[in-house]
Amino acid sequence: MNATTPQALVRPAVAVPGMPAGFRWGVATSAYQIEGAAAEDGRTPSIWDTFCRVPGAVVRGEHGDVACDHYHRMPEDVELIAGLGVDTYRFSLAWPRIQPGGRGPANAKGLDFYKRLIDELDRRNVTPWITLYHWDLPQELEDAGGWPARDTAYRFADYAMLAYEALGDRVAHWTTLNEPWCSAMLGYDAGVHAPGRRNFGDALHAVHHLLLGHGLASSRIREAAGSTRPLELGITLNLGTATPETDSAADREACRRADGMGRRLYLDPLVHGRYPEDVLADLALHGVELPVQEGDLAAISTPLDVLGVNFYRGALFSGTTEDGATADADGLPVTRSVPRDLPRTAMDWEITPGELTELLLGLQHDYGVPTVITENGAAFDDLVAADGSVPDADRTAYLADHIAAVAEARERGADVRGYFAWSLMDNFEWAYGYDKRFGIVRVDYATQARTLKDSAKWYRDTIRLTRDATR
Ligand code: FCB
Repeated sequence: MNATTPQALVRPAVAVPGMPAGFRWGVATSAYQIEGAAAEDGRTPSIWDTFCRVPGAVVRGEHGDVACDHYHRMPEDVELIAGLGVDTYRFSLAWPRIQPGGRGPANAKGLDFYKRLIDELDRRNVTPWITLYHWDLPQELEDAGGWPARDTAYRFADYAMLAYEALGDRVAHWTTLNEPWCSAMLGYDAGVHAPGRRNFGDALHAVHHLLLGHGLASSRIREAAGSTRPLELGITLNLGTATPETDSAADREACRRADGMGRRLYLDPLVHGRYPEDVLADLALHGVELPVQEGDLAAISTPLDVLGVNFYRGALFSGTTEDGATADADGLPVTRSVPRDLPRTAMDWEITPGELTELLLGLQHDYGVPTVITENGAAFDDLVAADGSVPDADRTAYLADHIAAVAEARERGADVRGYFAWSLMDNFEWAYGYDKRFGIVRVDYATQARTLKDSAKWYRDTIRLTRDATR
């Protein structure tokens, strides 16, 4: 161990100071990444089943047909979750299991799986936290236009109601969408996620329709819950920070644009009921206008009880190319993220815990909605020791530093109410296939054996010590 690799130092578990008794501790997963059973009990293909078959789309052509086989090993996995001592489990429902094809009535067998999962969680006193949409759009809806088509928002609200009607008497915590930025920009602009389309204008139409779908679903769920049923309703966004490389006007402008496209484009309509003017002007430079219709913004700004924050890293931005130009080949302003000399994860993502504190304080200031960290964690190239243990000191350090960053944000006034580690176990990491391991539990895909990594034991002990200290 030397001074240049502080992230590899083994951290002892200690109580996190300043956490209130009701602070939620959880682990998170999503359906397509863990369930497998892709063609069982009436489930139809989602855009990810299709995308995985496109040559070159996913590392080694991998897919979620089996994944962690969670569909068949669910009781054992809930046992694992309970053993960690977390109070909350965030998972997503597979739309093509519950409403195959994306239209029409619910599929009872699909719902049964989630009812059994909720039974198992109840038995062990773990609170279920449902995400309705974690990227697995039924393929038929993509064939009809996907998220760039307005109708998909209405289809989503109908599906959300099928799920809520079946499970809402037992589940109080509902997240509509996971990371609409990724669905829209990675799926319809960059083309690196399903459905793999590449059109900037379509991606922006997808942004609006995702937000509209969230709004329509939220208002219907709220109405169905009425005043008697407990409900904590929200959306999860992937958020980072944008820091200017220098104090130049060009770099500050680049940060304004990055923050606009990554954060304010979503939160301004969700919380304030309007799109940010400066971002609309930036989009106009690209010849793009959002397809907003009357009443949309009122629906989108249905009150949020909680904002889910997925944080992995912040970034440094420059407003010039490496040659110093402020415009690109199309004459558009340059927004360039600049790599820093910082420790990185196996995703090559910079490790920036201090920027999580900054992000949370900024959200408190700009939007004032209570937050929960619905995902935070890291991929590292784990080694299995001769005794079978997984000494992942780098992941433990990542979690420790980010949990400390949350505690600091709380101390400085941010209303952060929970922290969920991504992820419970190694799983299908989208375009990276099974190559990148984010789990605090190791999965041996050949045998489906689960092994607690050292980070899982550290997390379990940290939660226990923190609870003991606040009792
Ligand atoms: C987030 C996704 C999650 C996982 C992590 C690493 O963007 O929500 O499914 O892939 O990144």
